[in-house]
Amino acid sequence: NLDTDDDLDLAPATPTRRTSKLAIVGAGAVGSTMAYAALMRGAARSVALFDINTAKVEAEVLDLGHGIQFMPMAEIVGSDDISVCADADVVVFTAGAKQKPGQTRLDLAGATISLVSKVLPSVVQVAPNATYVMVTNPVDVVTYAALKISGLPSNQLFGSGTVLDSSRLRYLIAQRTGVAVQNVHAYVAGEHGDSELPLWSSASIGGVPLLEWGGIGVRGPLTSEVRDEIAHEVVESAYRIIAGKGATNYAIALAGSRIIEAILKDEDRVLPVSSLLNDYHGISDVCLSVPTLVGRRGVTDQLEVPMSVDELAGMRKSADAVRAVARQFGY
Ligand code: 2OP
Repeated sequence: NLDTDDDLDLAPATPTRRTSKLAIVGAGAVGSTMAYAALMRGAARSVALFDINTAKVEAEVLDLGHGIQFMPMAEIVGSDDISVCADADVVVFTAGAKQKPGQTRLDLAGATISLVSKVLPSVVQVAPNATYVMVTNPVDVVTYAALKISGLPSNQLFGSGTVLDSSRLRYLIAQRTGVAVQNVHAYVAGEHGDSELPLWSSASIGGVPLLEWGGIGVRGPLTSEVRDEIAHEVVESAYRIIAGKGATNYAIALAGSRIIEAILKDEDRVLPVSSLLNDYHGISDVCLSVPTLVGRRGVTDQLEVPMSVDELAGMRKSADAVRAVARQFGY
């Protein structure tokens, strides 16, 4: 049709574009690296960074902006004004107290909850339709408190949970077995913290149930001693990294970016995020990580993964630990 060009001329001067906007609250080590990871992976078309520290947020945005040429098409903006988060599709909350060597994540609850109660309502005001991903520790307690503070539905706000711990677990299993990490399927469930537990009974390596893994060559089976060592190493990972460099940032940023992509690309991906449980294997009224479907509407389903007696007991213990801290702070 020769009229096609005319039709194009009639297009509005500023066509409306469906863009995906990611807003990150907190431009510290985790928030800034998450912006970097999300940009590098092409997770969002537009990334906004918010921090009350004007000089810091401006510097991070400049540094990231200078690298935009080398990344998938995107823009990065930042401000100390919360309106920079306006109309975001996803908001990732990373602001909070910094874990010092010797501190547990649960030690940070008081400081972080008070910060969330100050900042989150104003973010929700400017981005009421966003899906919210809490990253700040102790993430399970913070997620539960944030649900109460914001009044958002429980599918729309959840925590990064044990997505990171599960990648640490898979990394260690891959190292021990000599199989690519992508072919290892295993989840850490429960608290993102000291009471977490690997779900060994449902784990598999290349389709072989992990508990039946016989080993390859000089690498033997994953005996209960080896499994205990791995579980211990997963829990200790963050402490080791904090002792060595003051904070963890790369892997949490990549895990966060993976969650963001699952939302913005509406993937229905199974990720062990922390969300409100309601009679999950009998556990209710606490935010904990279990394998969960994540898509554009946020959390859509929690998979009732079969668990051994020990795993169920571990989950209940983890629920009690997280609930006790939440209650201590009135949530
Ligand atoms: C991590 O596990 C400290 O929660 C942070 O890396």
